[in-house]
Amino acid sequence: MCGICGVVGHRTASPLIFEALRRLEYRGYDSAGIATLDHGRIDRRRAPGKLDHLQAVLEAQPLAGTTGIGHTRWATHGEPNEQNAHPHAVGQVAVVHNGIIENYESLRDELVAEGRVFSSETDTEVVAQLIDLMMSRGASPQEAARESLQRLQGAYALAIIFARHDGLIIGARHGAPLAVGYGEGEMFLGSDSIALAPLAQKITYLDDGDWVVLTPRSVQIFDEAGQKVKRPAQPMALIAGAVGKDGYRHYMEKELHEHPVVIGQTLQRVIDPVSKAVALPEFGFSLVEVPRVTMTACGSAYYAALVGRYWLEAEARVPVDIDVASELRYRAPPLTPGGMGLLISQSGETADTLAALRLLRRSDQRIVSILNVETSTMGRDSDVTLGMVAGPEISVASTKAFTAQLSVLAALTIAMGQARGTIDASRAQQMVSTLFDLPSRAAEVFQRVADIQKMAVIVAEARDVLYLGRGVCFPIALEGALKLKEISYIHAEAYAAGEMKHGPISLIDKDVPIVVIAPSTILFDKTLSNIQEAKARGGRILAFTDEKGAARLSGIAEQMVVLPEVDAFVAPILFTIPVQILAYEVALLKGTDVDQPRNLAKSVTVE
Ligand code: F6R
Repeated sequence: MCGICGVVGHRTASPLIFEALRRLEYRGYDSAGIATLDHGRIDRRRAPGKLDHLQAVLEAQPLAGTTGIGHTRWATHGEPNEQNAHPHAVGQVAVVHNGIIENYESLRDELVAEGRVFSSETDTEVVAQLIDLMMSRGASPQEAARESLQRLQGAYALAIIFARHDGLIIGARHGAPLAVGYGEGEMFLGSDSIALAPLAQKITYLDDGDWVVLTPRSVQIFDEAGQKVKRPAQPMALIAGAVGKDGYRHYMEKELHEHPVVIGQTLQRVIDPVSKAVALPEFGFSLVEVPRVTMTACGSAYYAALVGRYWLEAEARVPVDIDVASELRYRAPPLTPGGMGLLISQSGETADTLAALRLLRRSDQRIVSILNVETSTMGRDSDVTLGMVAGPEISVASTKAFTAQLSVLAALTIAMGQARGTIDASRAQQMVSTLFDLPSRAAEVFQRVADIQKMAVIVAEARDVLYLGRGVCFPIALEGALKLKEISYIHAEAYAAGEMKHGPISLIDKDVPIVVIAPSTILFDKTLSNIQEAKARGGRILAFTDEKGAARLSGIAEQMVVLPEVDAFVAPILFTIPVQILAYEVALLKGTDVDQPRNLAKSVTVE
């Protein structure tokens, strides 16, 4: 959420920053801007809207200089217009910021009382004003930045440049991610490794509270107390090539097609492909003694957690509490020390989930995180990280990370069940073999795209859509409804099919398509009754089912997508794929911006 970057070196900074912003655009696309130092003078270009607008501005008026900072914005305070676009430049200082300065109102009042005049509605401008005020009183850039940082409350990743100080950038991180990239005679700052990958050879992830002074040939890192510290530098993973669209129309389309590979790679990471034994990292505590698992996450990751709850309770017989992270953290749940706090996050940076992590930590829970970005803040703050192998997910709507999360949760379920004696060797073997069969079943889903497209035509015409599922397929209905809302802007709600008769059934008429997730598992008959109830009231049934289910649904469902029959345990993983493809196909018909839907951004680093 908001992407920032900085370049200090020997090459013209602006094109490097622009390309880094392209790679960060998934984090926000309300406006963008770049500021550079040109012979000691701050020069900047900003534009509302997507980066293409900034590109046009830069083409007309290029920026010179080898030191610069850039920003792509997801608006929090102030409309997404040019005036509120970053970088914010005041006097001798220009600043880009990801996060929220929570005490900006009191700081602003104080600065206004000092005679300072503000030119934006943002919280960020107080940072530029504060630093400039201190410098106007004689402080050096370093002193002014250090003292200003001490005044800030809230979450921030910052990059700052200073007039008359070519070759200097100061960065800071507090609750929002920031990394340093090392080049030859040039240094970089970026919100994530994707931004820095093609630029830098090594990367250092800053710790919370760190601030950093960059010149073309030096990096000095200080901790919150102002002590010089060393942070490990890692070789930059070769991910730059992995972030192209590979000929697909959208990142989302590419990422949907990656489901089979991602499931396969993730399973091989958590289950030994030769011995077929679950091979998770050492937990450092006994899975048998865990009194309760408290699961939390946001959005799609939360729906993955919901599936995990069904599995952990039914198969491993462990009590599970679950809530969205933004609620859990304010619920003050009474937790037994020694319980497991289980977090799920693609990015590992989601502010709500991070805040829940800290609550769980304070309540003496063992923190286990299922993450795609293991070097993220959550990765570093967890006792155990269970990595999924989804690769970079650029489409703002999550797809492949979801099935990767489920793959890890499946392995964790087997491990816990075996440890607790609720899953015996033969059941474990059966579960593992059905999991290893999944990548090829997942690949078969793409042979059904023509049927999904027929369904999409019906959904695209609707104003409201209902999604129904039961048991482990209820979270898949939630995921389908969320994906449809996010990228096609069609209103969709998901219900546990059995709940329909308790209220939502009154919504049904011929204009509200009902998408049902109905594999022929133990709950099929119950789901079928719920479908019949809806059909009897004029509902148009669109069903995702398997061959056995299709025989029972024929004549009832107006449109069906028939998937291969799989073990009930893995059905939610398989059924996710066509449900996400449906949302994609509807968005294509609606002509929306699939990869960057309105109002959204990935990696939600504000609460
Ligand atoms: C939905 C989506 C979001 C994320 C949520 C959590 O398509 O992308 O709902 O799942 O913001 O993000 P992570 O997993 O990064 O914590």
